[in-house]
Amino acid sequence: MKSLEGMSLLITGGGSGIGLGTARYCVERGARVTICGRRPDKIEAAARELGPACHGVAADITVAADRQKLIDAALGHGGKLDALINNAGNMYRGMITELEEAALQDIFNSNVISAMLLTGLCTPHLATTEGSVVFVGSIHTRRAFPGASAYAATKAAVQGLTRVLAAELGAQKIRVNCLLPGAVFTEINQRAGLMDDETALQRLQGMSDLHALGRIGTTEEIAEAMAYLMCAEWVTGAMIDIDGGLGLGITADPAIINRKEQ
Ligand SMILES: NC(=O)c1ccc[n+]([C@@H]2O[C@H](COP(=O)([O-])OP(=O)(O)OC[C@H]3O[C@@H](n4cnc5c(N)ncnc54)[C@H](OP(=O)(O)O)[C@@H]3O)[C@@H](O)[C@H]2O)c1
Repeated sequence: MKSLEGMSLLITGGGSGIGLGTARYCVERGARVTICGRRPDKIEAAARELGPACHGVAADITVAADRQKLIDAALGHGGKLDALINNAGNMYRGMITELEEAALQDIFNSNVISAMLLTGLCTPHLATTEGSVVFVGSIHTRRAFPGASAYAATKAAVQGLTRVLAAELGAQKIRVNCLLPGAVFTEINQRAGLMDDETALQRLQGMSDLHALGRIGTTEEIAEAMAYLMCAEWVTGAMIDIDGGLGLGITADPAIINRKEQ
């Protein structure tokens, strides 16, 4: 098992939520981490909070020049690249009759295509370290939420990519894995203009009974699984559900589960 200590990591979308939680977790364990996001204020605040082991870059992964800038920054900050975490992602909701072409192109661009292009650019550097790539999929491919087809389709895409790229890059000793997080309170719905912080938290907590473990997760719990995938040397092409049992499809109907009486 590798150690995070001394690793150089590139985490896209590290200014908030799961990316920030993962950056914090890795910095606390001795990694040098480069994070990016489009909002400079978020990235600067995150880098300030995490200290000199974290380098923040204001960059948009959908822009080719920014992707190269990011890799150069990670190599400059960490001296090498041990892992790419393709975490940046966006939500887009709407029933199938309402979906707009430009918005669909945008979500596939940010959630899938840019991550593919970034992975291609990182490959020579990851081959040098026998490093790894982690994609971030979602519970949305395990449970069907009406109105979230666009988002779920992008996550199904990265899950598919994981297995093909694991096969493709194994010869270079690069491992490629995917995490499927369940409900974690972050900024994703608020950034998409769907709700405010308070409503988002209430909505997620309202899903507690759908989890086998009775609660939503934390960014630190997702970070623990990220760390495992970056360090486990014989794991590739794996899809890890980390969702407190949300993906099991448990019903919240007390008449069926009789939870209170147990
Ligand atoms: N929260 C959950 O319950 C959950 C569950 C399953 C999967 N996920 C996945 O987890 C990942 C992280 O999301 P999160 O929940 O932590 O949400 P979040 O707090 O909104 O974090 C996503 C980050 O990605 C950045 N980002 C988005 N588009 C970008 C782009 N084009 N270039 C660079 N950065 C970009 C955002 O910053 P800027 O807007 O400043 O660029 C934001 O900081 C996503 O892939 C999401 O789909 C989340």
